[in-house]
This record gives sequence, structure tokens and C-alpha cells, in this order.
Amino acid sequence: MIRVGVVGYGTIGKRVANAITKQPDMVLVGVVKRSPDYSAKIGISRGIRFFIPHEELVDAWNRAGARYYGTLDDLLQECDVIVDATPKGIGMKNRVIYESKGIKAIFQGGEHPNVGEVSFVAQVNYESALGKQFLRVVSCNTTGLARVLHAINQQYPIEKAIVFLVRRAIDPNQDTNGIIDCVAPSFGVSHHAEDLKTVLKDINIVTFAVRIPVTHFHVHMISIKLKETVDRREIIDLLEESRRIVVLSSRDGLGSTAKLLDLSRELGRPRFDIYENLVWLDSIYAEGKWLHLMQAIHQEAIVIPENIDAIRAVSGFTDALTSMNLTDSSLSIVSTRFY
Ligand SMILES: NC(=O)c1ccc[n+]([C@@H]2O[C@H](COP(=O)([O-])OP(=O)(O)OC[C@H]3O[C@@H](n4cnc5c(N)ncnc54)[C@H](OP(=O)(O)O)[C@@H]3O)[C@@H](O)[C@H]2O)c1
Repeated sequence: MIRVGVVGYGTIGKRVANAITKQPDMVLVGVVKRSPDYSAKIGISRGIRFFIPHEELVDAWNRAGARYYGTLDDLLQECDVIVDATPKGIGMKNRVIYESKGIKAIFQGGEHPNVGEVSFVAQVNYESALGKQFLRVVSCNTTGLARVLHAINQQYPIEKAIVFLVRRAIDPNQDTNGIIDCVAPSFGVSHHAEDLKTVLKDINIVTFAVRIPVTHFHVHMISIKLKETVDRREIIDLLEESRRIVVLSSRDGLGSTAKLLDLSRELGRPRFDIYENLVWLDSIYAEGKWLHLMQAIHQEAIVIPENIDAIRAVSGFTDALTSMNLTDSSLSIVSTRFY
């Protein structure tokens, strides 16, 4: 069993922790969280062992009557691998601690790419992560783009991709820093293209982004110039066969992110998560060498399977296909359809 600790128990950390408990080859040793709030107390009541980042927080946890098992240092002594899901910038600082203890660690997309030896998307570069000490699972947007562009590029080589990202402003549990009643563009090209190139090294891509006042789902509008002409049906077949990508039809009433949110509730997974790229069938349009499509990404969930595969990769589990099969079956991830 791979002994795993999760540092940071927020949007990503609590989902990764939950997914670890579903793996046949992993054990969740404990999690690190700063404040003893409702989220910690629910986790404690479910039997998760909590640790605090440092001694200065002892009083706060004692005052809240929240049970903890020690500090980050204590947790590290019991772990083979850490998944660091702390807010942007803290992971890079924690890396020094993991390095000094010789512990393997997986960081998230908010960190600078230099935090890891490899930027990781399981379907693209599992093998290059084998046995590494530090990995970075790329962001939700980059993971979603990497999955779909890699699938297409392997079979229908891409000459150039142009992507417009419509980004949710904040996560549903956040009560600060949102935007109201506006569209906020990132001027010039957005950083997503460069981030994607940390995984798909040779891709010719440019990305543009706006933020809008919603909390659920990013939407990507993707235009691709291929090296050869392509038939729409071939692309649909390819995407339907691709792992962790689901093609949905607006004819089933799924013509907006509001309906996708409702779909996630109907599916009833933990925290209503959707781990798959959701490509709208009706958006797929091919004309000569040009291909256009739109997809939605559940930003809170899409990187969870990647974190699980990343744990196996750094632990030296060599069979990428078996790792992804284990991950997908444990989280009920589908590749073709939900129903
Ligand atoms: N949210 C997304 O949609 C999303 C998607 C993909 C990737 N990511 C990336 O994932 C990473 C985490 O993002 P997130 O959205 O999960 O953040 P988040 O919801 O703010 O959660 C961060 C967690 O880290 C804890 N924390 C803060 N300082 C800490 C410290 N010094 N030591 C240990 N724990 C500490 C926080 O504790 P308290 O709760 O007690 O404050 C909280 O539990 C970022 O790199 C982000 O860019 C986020």
C-alpha cells in the first residue's frame, strides 16, 4: 500500500483525500489543514486524521475542540507520498520541507511549473513521471485542453489550435474576490497556451480568456486547423472512444452549464463531481482542415483522477493503462456516456 498524506484540505485537497480512500493500493494517512472549521469537523467525524501546519495553531484547534494528531512534520514521518493542494505559492515553500525529508510530492496547477520535474496529465505523459520525486498536476483548464487536443493530435495531427476560454470567476464555496455583472478579459494572450506546452511540448496553440460571474464550469471554444481534411463523424467517434471524455447532446436537454450542473446532481457522485471533459456533440463542426468544438470542464473535479495516477507514477507503478483503469473504476469515471 502506498501511504499518502494530503497537505491542504480545500476544494482540491478534500476531493483527492476522498479519492485516495477508494484506491485498492493506497491508504490515506492524514490531511493537513490550517483552520478547524466546519470542513475539518466533518472530516474528523468521518474518521480522517487531521494534522496542523505548525505549532502556533495548537490553541485554535484546542479552543475549537477539534482533534488533531500532530503537525505536518509528524504526518511526513508516516508517508511515502504527499499531495500538496495548498493555495498558490505555498506548495513551492513546502517543497523545501519535502526535499529535506526525501519525500515524494505532487503539486497543483497554481504552482510555478518549476515546482515539479514534470508537469503531468496521465493520458499524455504518465511514463515520463515514473519514479520522479516531484510532479505538478497541471490546472483544470490545462488538463481539459490536454486531454482533448492530445486525443485529436495523435490521430489527426494539429497544425494550429486557437482556444477561447470562458472561465468561472470563483469556486462555489468562495465568498470573496468574485465579479458581479461583468465580463473580465485577460488582455493579450492568456497563460494557458504556455502551460499546455509544459505537457504537450510541440503543440502550436494560442489561447485567450475571459472570466464571467459564475461559479460552475469553464467553457472552452476550440478551433483547430489540422494537417489533413477531416470528417465530423470521425472526430465524434474518436472523442467517444477517448478516455475521460464524454460527448453530450443538447437534444438530451444539456444545452447549458446550468443543465450540466443539474446532470452532476442527478449522477449523485461525491460532491456532485464530474471528472470527465464534457464535449457538446452539437458544437462539433468540421469544414475542410478546420475543426471546431466546445467543451465544459468541472474545475473542482477534473484534476482528481490525474492526482491519483500521479501518486502511482511517482511510486514507480509502471503500467499507465492499469493505473488509469484502477482510478477510473474506483471513481466510476466513464469514457463513453453517463446513461
Ligand atoms: N479550485 C479549483 O478549481 C482548482 C482547480 C485545479 C487546480 N487548482 C489548484 O489547486 C491548488 C489548491 O487550490 P484550492 O482551490 O483547492 O484551494 P483552497 O480551496 O483555497 O484550499 C486550500 C487549502 O489549503 C489549506 N492551507 C492554507 N495554508 C496552508 C498551509 N500553510 N499548510 C497547509 N494547508 C494550508 C487551507 O486551509 P484552510 O481551509 O484551513 O484555510 C485549505 O484547506 C492551487 O494550486 C490551485 O491553483 C484549483
